[in-house]
Amino acid sequence: MIFGYNVEKIRKDFPVLSKKIIYFDNACMSLKPLSVINKLNEYYNEYTACAGRSSHSFAERVETEVEKARQEVGKLINSKHSSEVIFTRNTTESINLIANSLGLEKGDEVIITDKEHNSNLIPWLKLKKEKGIVVKIAESNKDNTFNLENFERLITDKTKFVSVVHVSNLDGVENPIKEISKITHKNNALLMVDGAQSIPHTEVDVRKLDIDFLCFSGHKMLGPTGTGVLYGKKELLEKLNQFIVGGETVIDSNYNDYKVENIPMKFEAGLQDYAGIIGFGEAVRYLRKIGINNIKKHELKINSLITESLSDLIEEGKINIIGPKEVEKRSGIFSFNIKGMDCHNVAKMLESSKKIMTRSGMHCVHSWFNKKGINGSVRVSAYLYNTEQEAITFAEEVRKIVKIV
Ligand SMILES: Cc1ncc(COP(=O)(O)O)c(C=O)c1O
Repeated sequence: MIFGYNVEKIRKDFPVLSKKIIYFDNACMSLKPLSVINKLNEYYNEYTACAGRSSHSFAERVETEVEKARQEVGKLINSKHSSEVIFTRNTTESINLIANSLGLEKGDEVIITDKEHNSNLIPWLKLKKEKGIVVKIAESNKDNTFNLENFERLITDKTKFVSVVHVSNLDGVENPIKEISKITHKNNALLMVDGAQSIPHTEVDVRKLDIDFLCFSGHKMLGPTGTGVLYGKKELLEKLNQFIVGGETVIDSNYNDYKVENIPMKFEAGLQDYAGIIGFGEAVRYLRKIGINNIKKHELKINSLITESLSDLIEEGKINIIGPKEVEKRSGIFSFNIKGMDCHNVAKMLESSKKIMTRSGMHCVHSWFNKKGINGSVRVSAYLYNTEQEAITFAEEVRKIVKIV
């Protein structure tokens, strides 16, 4: 029992749950509470305008609301200044912004892991092709957990940048960011963390972990689609080159030159998704009210119930879990295959029998699946509104599918 955690009360905040679905695709996209939907409507109904340009009262209101959202996000990750929070469209855009602004040159080394989402693999491979940077891949342990020795062995005096996933969308494994950060900084390199799967589910303090850059997406944490964040230490963001430039990114310009804006606007080019940003701020407010730690404990409870309910089939090898066997190492993710069954068929059967929505396929981690020679997996990912009964129903349905193979 998590003190004060009332899942039935929480569920009432999510209008789409009235459709009697079992929504287990949260690592892809979370559902949205009514307060976030209302906040989006508030912008469109009451003060639809742009910030930073006009000086009328609608524009002033937008600026105030955007700044409130920025501060809310800053508090969530414990940034020192709210200006260290840059709004982007998603994690992918945040990573691309950094990859294209660092000024990496031929021979510079970047280290990533063997479990990166395409969003934290392709931008580096592109720089490898176009600029001749060296991309090094830190191999995980056999059970898919992080191997610090392998990582440390890869670092050299040519290593300029380390970019690692915090919690894997493949299997839910959390990487030891504090240790990675120490090793990275000891070697005079910079660290970026892909927090797409950690920020929605686990408390992250950028100062305690000494993270230089952090990227995450609003749509996975109750926020609107098309909203994301790039956090960066102030002194680093100030030195960093701009990526996309134009309106709002400059203080002044003439036909020959321009004067760059201060952070955060330096990186927020063109008209922003104000409704989305303001809605994102509301999502963070909602999550902080429930408590990220409470949510984390709740998800682990759901995943434990699923894992225990299917333990005999796992032991018999009829179900194969991606990642470590121990549920505590997989947070809210249960990624699996049924022996002899295609993952997409399993996902379809789960939906047609009990409206259970999961994700099937390679989850944008093609590199890992291709290396292992596996066609994909079915991924269940829990969030704050999933119930124990849903976990039991899911396990019962999986058992039925195993029987007919
Ligand atoms: C670990 C991880 N990184 C990056 C991404 C990309 O996020 P987005 O599509 O919001 O840019 C995802 C999305 O699933 C993810 O799970």
